[in-house]
Amino acid sequence: MLSVTGLDVHYGPVHALKGVDIAVAPGSVTALLGANGAGKTTALMAIAGARPVTRGAIRFDGRDITGMRAEDIIRLGIGVVPEGRRVFASLTVEENLAVAGSLAADKAVSAARRAAMMERFPILAERRTQRAGLLSGGEQQMLAIARALMAAPRLLLLDEPSLGLAPLMVDRVFDLIAELKAEGLAMLLVEQNVPLSLEIADRVAVLANGRVSVAGTAAELGESEAIRGAYMAA
Ligand SMILES: Nc1ncnc2c1ncn2[C@@H]1O[C@H](COP(=O)(O)OP(=O)(O)OP(=O)(O)O)[C@@H](O)[C@H]1O
Ligand SMILES: [Mg+2]
Repeated sequence: MLSVTGLDVHYGPVHALKGVDIAVAPGSVTALLGANGAGKTTALMAIAGARPVTRGAIRFDGRDITGMRAEDIIRLGIGVVPEGRRVFASLTVEENLAVAGSLAADKAVSAARRAAMMERFPILAERRTQRAGLLSGGEQQMLAIARALMAAPRLLLLDEPSLGLAPLMVDRVFDLIAELKAEGLAMLLVEQNVPLSLEIADRVAVLANGRVSVAGTAAELGESEAIRGAYMAA
């Protein structure tokens, strides 16, 4: 479903990604792990069309989406839950969803999806008229995920969804990810919670200094020292 091959990304003179290959199969979860500064966010942003690519190809459902605009990539079915959640703090919960819906679908479809999100996330329904900036970190994370789901993606890119959350909320976020997976949504999951990621992921790729240092199935890598080693080396 997603195939990234030989991806290079630069920030001016900084060579952030060097020949990165990542794959996500339909309905499956690939975990993208790695130390701070390894290039995980850069990889997600490049896939989402939010960061220019200097070399390599990004294919989604067989179509070359390299260099496509971010809005068009969302419309093709790739949703993004950005690092740090980035909800619109001064808008209400409902307005956050409405903005995302208006970009992705017509009014009626958007309203129906918003209603579905309120059912799925009772925590957001309770706070629908509250400004998003007043929500807890966990609630903001749920809102960021709900916002991405408003475009009915077939692939979801998640950048450290559990970062900074209380343990109970970390569990809730991972429960939600498991639920979405069970519904057939494919995901590329950037995480620093390695044990929980290995539990949910089918495949794992570890980035170190802009390169994939280890890749394989979660079952293979969960049993090995390769992941721990990769973190130490980075
Ligand atoms: N806007 C930028 N300008 C210049 N360099 C950048 C920029 N953003 C990231 N970098 C550099 O690119 C590299 C990869 O950064 P990136 O944010 O993708 O890493 P990451 O794996 O997501 O890290 P973290 O775990 O801290 O979120 C790092 O060396 C970083 O310093
Ligand atoms: Mg990052």
